[in-house]
Amino acid sequence: MPNSSPLSPMIEPTLDDFRTRALMRIDMTLEQILPPVGVQPSRLHEAMRYTVLAPGKRLRPLLTYATGAALGIDEALLDYPACAVEMIHAYSLIHDDLPAMDDDDLRRGRPTCHRAFDEATAILAGDALQTLAFQVLAEAPGLSAEARVGMVSTLARASGTRGMAGGQALDLEAEGQALDLVQLENIHIHKTGALIRAAVQMGILAHGGRLDQERSDRLDHYAKCLGLAFQIQDDVLDVEGETDQIGKTAGRDQALHKITYPTLVGLAEAKAMANQLISEAIASVSVFGERAQPLIEMAQGLLGRRQ
Ligand code: IPE
Ligand code: IPE
Ligand code: MG
Ligand code: MG
Ligand code: MG
Repeated sequence: MPNSSPLSPMIEPTLDDFRTRALMRIDMTLEQILPPVGVQPSRLHEAMRYTVLAPGKRLRPLLTYATGAALGIDEALLDYPACAVEMIHAYSLIHDDLPAMDDDDLRRGRPTCHRAFDEATAILAGDALQTLAFQVLAEAPGLSAEARVGMVSTLARASGTRGMAGGQALDLEAEGQALDLVQLENIHIHKTGALIRAAVQMGILAHGGRLDQERSDRLDHYAKCLGLAFQIQDDVLDVEGETDQIGKTAGRDQALHKITYPTLVGLAEAKAMANQLISEAIASVSVFGERAQPLIEMAQGLLGRRQ
């Protein structure tokens, strides 16, 4: 407890404290949840750990903790829900990179799962991460049965045909096709937005239904705006980023003939739209005052991100 000494003034926790602590909790929980390599089937366990424990930004689990901070929730209650969302995300990345999908060789700065192992192992690693995510939600310590069922349902919806998997299907169907802005937004809010929304919902559900509708809607609106801004920024980085900076192959969208925000509205307008969405996200959570600082600083940090 560095601040409890009588010689040091009482200091409010900063975002750095929040991030450092949350990132530590995420790493510790993932390490504990993921099956060990020493247990059979070793190669499958190794592939799961390889992708999940690679250096990702951990945006989604951080959002669960940041929502928890806005609502004053004990962080220990958020460990399993936050990591469940990260495992669904990691599974979606493994499958997104497969030859049948985006056929990418690089992820999180390392060879993609199917490159480092083989395609069948990568498919199974994704499958197993998905089921493990629901297992840990169902078994999450400290949460009521009602909260756990709500989380399982929310994450399943966000991952399924009306969420991430549906968005991915639309994204693949659209390759080489003409799209308008409404159709592109629809793809983005499903393939990426749904899981980001679910990450915030995990925090709301951990609160145990004591949150009024208006505040719950404000957090959800924050997540919707942030989710869309995040995928717009991902499209921008595919054009502007360097492969060694973004940790995945730059220019992949163009190579796959995908319509993205930069191709549809231009780079400058795409950035302006992301900016506008971030301002809207921040305004939506301002009623939470100081406690919303982690949510606000995460939204601000998103615009400057280079990976
Ligand atoms: C990449 O997500 C895929 C998208 C949904 C845009 P992230 O940019 O959050 O990837 P990691 O977790 O940092 O690797
Ligand atoms: C991926 O979108 C969305 C999901 C993984 C669900 P992208 O295909 O643009 O993601 P990256 O650019 O490969 O990370
Ligand atoms: Mg893709
Ligand atoms: Mg991809
Ligand atoms: Mg992309």
